[in-house]
Amino acid sequence: MKKRSISRARSDGRPSARKKPTLRRPQARSRTSLSSQWLKEFFSEMLAVEQGGVELYERALKELTHDDLRPKLEQFREQTQQHVELCQEMLNAAGGGEGEKSPSAEAAEHKARGLLSTEVPDNLKDINNLENLLLAETKDHWNWELLGSLMDQIEGRDLKKVVSRAVREVRRQENQHLSWNQKMLTRLATETAHREPQTDERSEPEDQEEESAEHDY
Ligand SMILES: [Fe+2]
Ligand SMILES: [Fe+2]
Repeated sequence: MKKRSISRARSDGRPSARKKPTLRRPQARSRTSLSSQWLKEFFSEMLAVEQGGVELYERALKELTHDDLRPKLEQFREQTQQHVELCQEMLNAAGGGEGEKSPSAEAAEHKARGLLSTEVPDNLKDINNLENLLLAETKDHWNWELLGSLMDQIEGRDLKKVVSRAVREVRRQENQHLSWNQKMLTRLATETAHREPQTDERSEPEDQEEESAEHDY
């Protein structure tokens, strides 16, 4: 490959007559460092999302009728509980106080409560719970992806260490949480789409109806 010259050519294409001494420029900082306040608030929000996730998995397990989904839901609930602990650890390392909640964490809590308050008939409970999980996991997954993309800009060696360990541990799990919930929701919705409507057992057979109609006048 041809090496590109870093010396500037004149606008007329000819090289400049006086060769300037080449000074090594200090490496330009392409990115500014992260706001520590933003980071603390974001960890607080991530914690609230994970806590809401645990509750949503618990609800899904409590109401579950498709028993073949239980092992994965239990596994994801356990992993989400570990994510709660990791978020708490990151928040502490960033200097966030116990019980301190950022406005975005309060919003996340509010959203989780909204999802948990949805009431549906029994035959829709599994679908509704998977849909709630898909919504929550979409945000959860996005949180960790964003954190991973900003990780290099975190200042403070100890904090960076805590965050990179957590990101390494969680990212792959979040991919699984999102894709599995999406796949299972599609499966249940497709099953429902092919189910014949239940016949109303209370309706009378046709000949009886005709008979009774004859006696009406
Ligand atoms: Fe999570
Ligand atoms: Fe998750």
